[in-house]
Amino acid sequence: MAEQKMVSLTIEGRSVSVPEGTTLLEAAKTVGILIPHYCYHPGLPVAGVCRMCLVEVEKAPKLAPSCATTVAEGQVVHVHSEKSLDARKGVLEMLLINHPLDCPICDQSGECELQDYTFQEGREDSRYREPKRFNPAEDFGGDVIYVPNRCILCTRCVRFMDDVAHDPALNVSERGDRALIGKFEGKDLTHPWAANVVDLCPVGALLSKDFLNKARAWELDRTASICPNCTQGCNVIMETRENQVVRMRPRPNENVNAFFMCDWGRLNYRWMNEKNRAERPMVRRNNALAVASWEAAISAAARALSGKSVFVAASPMLSNESLYLLTQLMQSGYGAFRVTEGEEAPLPGVKDLALRRERAANVYGAETLGFKKTKDLLADLRQGDVLVIAGENLAGIDASALTRASEVIVISSVLPEAASNASVVLPIANFSEEEGTVTNLRGRVQRFTQARQAPGDTRPSWLVLGDLLGAMGKQASFFLPSEVFARLASSTKAFEGLSYDSLGFKGLPLATARDTGRKTPIAMGAA
Ligand code: SF4
Ligand code: SF4
Ligand code: FES
Repeated sequence: MAEQKMVSLTIEGRSVSVPEGTTLLEAAKTVGILIPHYCYHPGLPVAGVCRMCLVEVEKAPKLAPSCATTVAEGQVVHVHSEKSLDARKGVLEMLLINHPLDCPICDQSGECELQDYTFQEGREDSRYREPKRFNPAEDFGGDVIYVPNRCILCTRCVRFMDDVAHDPALNVSERGDRALIGKFEGKDLTHPWAANVVDLCPVGALLSKDFLNKARAWELDRTASICPNCTQGCNVIMETRENQVVRMRPRPNENVNAFFMCDWGRLNYRWMNEKNRAERPMVRRNNALAVASWEAAISAAARALSGKSVFVAASPMLSNESLYLLTQLMQSGYGAFRVTEGEEAPLPGVKDLALRRERAANVYGAETLGFKKTKDLLADLRQGDVLVIAGENLAGIDASALTRASEVIVISSVLPEAASNASVVLPIANFSEEEGTVTNLRGRVQRFTQARQAPGDTRPSWLVLGDLLGAMGKQASFFLPSEVFARLASSTKAFEGLSYDSLGFKGLPLATARDTGRKTPIAMGAA
């Protein structure tokens, strides 16, 4: 591959060296300078319509839009010079002519770029005394509401639907000060990826119906995680309020999901707040399940498993760490899992990004660790096996299928109805309540972290399984999920060379996926 030519320039007195073709705005980011901008977004084609990114370039006759100006050798750029600040102040004043002073009741307040930049470099007061333009809010279909009064006409939403979703649904209707975003006749935002326009909108003009009035931005706790809802493994921020997951938003990763996530994944978070949980360890006594201490329940499970042939019915939502520890429990037995399926829905403007048919986070991890994918979950359960139900809800499975097992051990966050004859119940945290890794369909191993507190006496699955193996005399208990991962990486060829530190928060491919994996990052938006 030909060497990329580098260009050196100075931005705000700092020397910058970036590849030829980089824009001034992106070059400034590399030295920690954020040039204010509205219409520009790295996942969309450049439009250059808002003029908020104007900067002064020495020897240039007029101010340059930094999102649409590429770097040149020896350029000297001033972002905070009087001339640049004056121009941007003027842009802000113009945008605020018709923008309502809605901040106290606006859903975007606290995460609004108009609010931020006005605070940073706008005028202190308004010179405008005339009444403001008014247009009613409109349901745009899907999960999206449009509030035209707040719209700054940056056209990010229009470009997303045109160039990334390849489903032109939006346009700039009317002209001049009457301009607003309109829907084309017969079109709306029911496209499976359309809700991304809500994240892209820099102000409170496009809102999620699902999130409406649920929380103010400053009340949210944010956690780096992975969307657990299909095998794509989109990087997300899980947002909680008072220990409830209330929103998921995409976290950029150029190797997996660019800047986007699908509507199905985005809105499918309520199960993580489920109330009907197994919260205390239980052991069967006198033919009924009775609450027990963790120590007693772990010992009872260890006794039931030691020296027996074990069949594990696992969930593909479990982490690599937990699935690995389950393989250690199996002894000479087997493990199987099943996965819910749905329609595949690609995002055409981004290569290899789709809502995948298989709707669970760790299908590939489970297969790599030796679990058999099947439609008939208990088909391989042999007469007399000890059955371990790990994270599976057994939905649709008849309780009579479990009678082949000599004993049933449940290690789950919910006690499945079909497993009411279990000998031991070990309650575990769900996906949002613990830390671990999952492997996506391209073999990329990615970390997720704990977003909410688990209820009752529930413990993380890796901790429970580590203690159980310890009680069976198999290995020492683990204190951190990273220790389980280190053990997995040192004993499983596919995970060789990986660690929590090297994975970081963007992940790395499995050793076995490194050659076959994607060589270059996926394309961002359209050309
Ligand atoms: S609705 Fe939002 S994203 Fe669309 S043009 Fe208006 S401000 Fe921009
Ligand atoms: S594509 Fe899959 S992983 Fe990505 S947001 Fe949708 S459901 Fe979640
Ligand atoms: S961000 Fe450059 S013109 Fe809008």
